[in-house]
Amino acid sequence: MHISLSDIFIASVVLSCLAYLRRRKHGLPYPPGPKPLPIIGNALDLPESHLWLKAGEWSKTYGDLVFLKAFGQPMLFINSYDIAFDLLERRSGFLPYGERMRKYRAMFHKFFQPIVVPEYHSIMENEVLKMLRGLREDPEQYDKHVRRFPGAVVMKNVYGYEVKNVVKNENDPYVAMGEACISGAFDVEDYLFLDFFPWMRFLPEWFPGASFIGEGKKMRKLSRAVQFDAHNMTKERMKKGEAPICMTTVLLEDHKEKDGNVSAEEDLHIASASAIAYAAAVDTTASTIMTFILAVLEDQEIQRKGQEELDRVLGKGCLPTFADRESLPYVQAICYEVIRWEPILPLGLVHATSADDVYNGQFIPAGTMVFGNTWHILHDPVRFPEPDAFKPERWLEPESEHGPIPVHKVAFGFGRRICPGRHWADNAVFIAIASILASFNIERAKDANGMLIQPTHNYSAKTVRHLDPSKCVFTPRTSKVVDTVRMYSMQQRYES
Ligand code: HEM
Repeated sequence: MHISLSDIFIASVVLSCLAYLRRRKHGLPYPPGPKPLPIIGNALDLPESHLWLKAGEWSKTYGDLVFLKAFGQPMLFINSYDIAFDLLERRSGFLPYGERMRKYRAMFHKFFQPIVVPEYHSIMENEVLKMLRGLREDPEQYDKHVRRFPGAVVMKNVYGYEVKNVVKNENDPYVAMGEACISGAFDVEDYLFLDFFPWMRFLPEWFPGASFIGEGKKMRKLSRAVQFDAHNMTKERMKKGEAPICMTTVLLEDHKEKDGNVSAEEDLHIASASAIAYAAAVDTTASTIMTFILAVLEDQEIQRKGQEELDRVLGKGCLPTFADRESLPYVQAICYEVIRWEPILPLGLVHATSADDVYNGQFIPAGTMVFGNTWHILHDPVRFPEPDAFKPERWLEPESEHGPIPVHKVAFGFGRRICPGRHWADNAVFIAIASILASFNIERAKDANGMLIQPTHNYSAKTVRHLDPSKCVFTPRTSKVVDTVRMYSMQQRYES
């Protein structure tokens, strides 16, 4: 397909005129926002990155609902919890929901709903031990061990597959492929303008600046490999009667037809839902745990207080289990604060309106891209005084009308598209953070001159934000922890 610049120009003009006529019909204004230029609209107002900060800034001038248009594409930024709740939870016009996604969500729900997640507790506790072992034996690569933890749990949940090679410089083949695919997929998704200007998808690869198309094709190939290699591996093991019960085996059994086969279409759906669950779980959970390590490096008091609670409740050198969670309010508060402090999906995932809508006398056209500004809502200085400070204590104060909004009501999105993995993530983050606190003192490393090295706050400005690792030291807190991890290592070697 060949599209020229003049085609693009004409399409923008036509879209703008149609939108203008529709608005005239309603006779209502759009929500306020920066003044658009002819044809290109607000394209020049959009920053290259950190859109959530810019959207928050706009709210000072235009209020909590900010409307823009770039090349005819309407965009709405919601900067308050109440409006996000009103629009994204209550209005059906804000729920573009294809049949395929509905199917996937039913599949996710079956395996990630609150009643099922406790069945994964023993897997999580086991995989946490492997992470601790990695942190003890190979602390320089702590980010790798942190990432491996959610990856290994979800691989077991989804494919019944046991991730190997915890230490050494090796990587598990399925995890390595998944990693490449996830980072690639998000790199490609990061070309936000693809969403703003959907027609750019049709540009030929040679078009200046369109190199992302080639990347996209490469990643799609890789993603297919991930999707089907792990899926087919599980199917092969099922045939031999060796596959542990997991999301893939259960769904394949559920979808068997009378002849005992699963249709190609259902097989594809199952493979896709499983791969999406894997991709959605790893980056998000790992980035959250990495943020916890950064918070501790920034303020050692957090570590001291968390460890004081763990030692008092469990005894020094004991590792926490899920059964201890209720007795560890400070550790729990650290988990909430980690999720609030540096939201890893600061604008959630983009929603879109499926029909024209009117909100508080303002017109919101069909096809508007809608962003819930999680970052801004979780950094509201009224509800979260000193919003940039890491203060677990804010979650321990008695609830009040203007107190913190529960972090899980915002950081995992809104409405029917709310994150289906949130209960799983909540559990995984708790056990990882509590176990690291119980096991290690984490401190800043020193440079050659004996000076403490500042931790890095370098988050990639991608859809899911990744935090680069800092130079730091993990010192085991007691020999008891060292023994537990060592005994576990010996058991692992014996078993393999
Ligand atoms: C700390 C960890 C996590 C955070 C902060 C997080 C956050 C989010 C957010 C903000 C959304 C967008 C919701 C919306 O559109 O309003 C989302 C969607 C999603 N999340 Fe998570 N998530 C996390 C972990 C997980 C895990 C462990 C899974 C594993 C199953 C998962 C699976 C998904 C899926 C499949 C979607 C797309 C849902 C849809 O569009 O219908 N997430 N997540």
